[in-house]
Amino acid sequence: MSDSLINTTAEKNLLLEQKNNEALVGGGADRIAKHKANGRLTARERIDVLCDPGSFVEIDRLASHNCQNFGMEKKNFPGDGVITGYGRINGKSIYVYSQDFTVFGGSMSKTQARKICKLMEMALKNGAPLIGINDSGGARIHEGVEALTGYADIFLKNVLASGVVPQISAIMGPCAGGAVYSPSLTDFIFMVKDTSYMFVTGPDVIKSVTHEDVTKEELGGAKTHTQKSGVAHFSTEDDKNCLLMIRELLNFLPSNNVDDPPVLPTIDSPDRIDEQLNSFIPDNSKKPYDMKELIKTIVDEGYFLDVQQAYAQNIIVGFARFNGRSVGIVANQPTHLAGCLNIEASKKSARFVRFCDAFNIPLVTLVDVPGFLPGTDQEWAGIITHGAKLLYAYAEATVPKVTLITRKAYGGAFDVMSSKALRGDINLAYPTAEIAVMGAEGAVNIIFRNEIKTAKDPAAERAKLTEEYELKFNNPYAAAELGFVDEVIEPAMTRVRIINSLEMLKNKRDHNPPKKHGNIPL
Ligand code: HXC
Repeated sequence: MSDSLINTTAEKNLLLEQKNNEALVGGGADRIAKHKANGRLTARERIDVLCDPGSFVEIDRLASHNCQNFGMEKKNFPGDGVITGYGRINGKSIYVYSQDFTVFGGSMSKTQARKICKLMEMALKNGAPLIGINDSGGARIHEGVEALTGYADIFLKNVLASGVVPQISAIMGPCAGGAVYSPSLTDFIFMVKDTSYMFVTGPDVIKSVTHEDVTKEELGGAKTHTQKSGVAHFSTEDDKNCLLMIRELLNFLPSNNVDDPPVLPTIDSPDRIDEQLNSFIPDNSKKPYDMKELIKTIVDEGYFLDVQQAYAQNIIVGFARFNGRSVGIVANQPTHLAGCLNIEASKKSARFVRFCDAFNIPLVTLVDVPGFLPGTDQEWAGIITHGAKLLYAYAEATVPKVTLITRKAYGGAFDVMSSKALRGDINLAYPTAEIAVMGAEGAVNIIFRNEIKTAKDPAAERAKLTEEYELKFNNPYAAAELGFVDEVIEPAMTRVRIINSLEMLKNKRDHNPPKKHGNIPL
């Protein structure tokens, strides 16, 4: 039906129906079939899985490009390769865009950017999370600089929204070139195994410049970015799993930076005492134990959402609940590098601490850290600057901060891991805590070098002095006497004490001095 022949209301309604139907089929049945043959959902199906049933409302469905280059004036698909709108997840308002690969490969046009920016403005104004589903061949090649500027318009909005509303990116297909920078400005990146990839320059360019042979998957697949680079936070099995995990994550988050995180009902008693924890820390302080086991024992219903699980495994970050309230957990992991802080661990945890602080999520820190990882690798790659990121993040954070030292808290790492001096609110320790400048052996080798050298039996002298040092410092009592530890607790009481602390801190108000912004050591 041509627009000019329409007179009656029925005809007008029919025209609307036709336009809607045209938009709903994206790039057409053939392209949809090809897209789905790879096991991927369509852009619309993805939104359906993400949102509560029936809650999604589309806007700008009929937007189209006005490009006149290379025959584009004859090719137009309503919506122009991205579906935008609002809906609900777990009953709470969200904004979502989903790139449609069947329309010009989901490529970024001026129109697409305008739609996405409009949505971002709405998310910001109305204080609700923004979720971007990325599946795109990059800048719309026919449009040139207008497409590039479209990306920059989105980057700017990402930056302005950062710390105001949670921003989440799902990478569900190609994401290459400058297109990677919008996701990287968001708070969490989800990737789908085998079907998604992210890189600044692809395998062909790399081959011609550095002569390296690398596949797309090796270069920028989900495994690479969740294990090696740390660019992505979650690797998921398939499209559906990815979208359901985003729903899961949002259950822990407030809608914006002035809301409190959601409180969920729990059947787990806040008074639950766990006697097994009294023997959880090994007698031999060199023996590793799995910190995740401890976390799962103390949090509500044993549920912990591990963030960046496969990256820098010497530190654990993620979300859990205590008596229904969301917390961010940061914990050293003695089973990896003895729980040392290195560059990757510092970056991973600093960013997480800052996210939690921006969104009013209390921090629970579990400390078992022998120190910063020694080595030329670390020093030359800038552990000083990177380690300072975590220090900065904790010092700057004004959310409730509860710290528990389970075992080692040595040297600078003691300070960094949410110590009292960095405004830790409640700092607890187990009787097994060892708080000192360094391990006893290392310490006596330095401060009693001459005594050991001149002793009749140097080995016996070293052993005696080591024991003396251990008695003096390798325990929580010196710190407790000085108030750097608020309470030495029986491990069985861990959950109870953390919940007591969080309840007590519920109305905490703390501020940093007014400033434009700080200068975190990036
Ligand atoms: C316009 C594009 C497109 C693009 C794909 N298409 N990418 N149209 N601009 N960037 C179209 C194709 O012409 C095709 O149209 C359809 O999308 C599907 O593409 P295929 O190539 O058939 O799909 P596939 O084999 O799966 O390959 C996907 C792909 C490939 C690997 C993404 O299309 C590709 O390499 N595209 C170009 C990637 C690129 O170099 N982009 C620019 C990056 S630079 P039909 O009509 O046949 O369905 C960049 C700068 C951003 O983005 C800077 C921001 C600061």
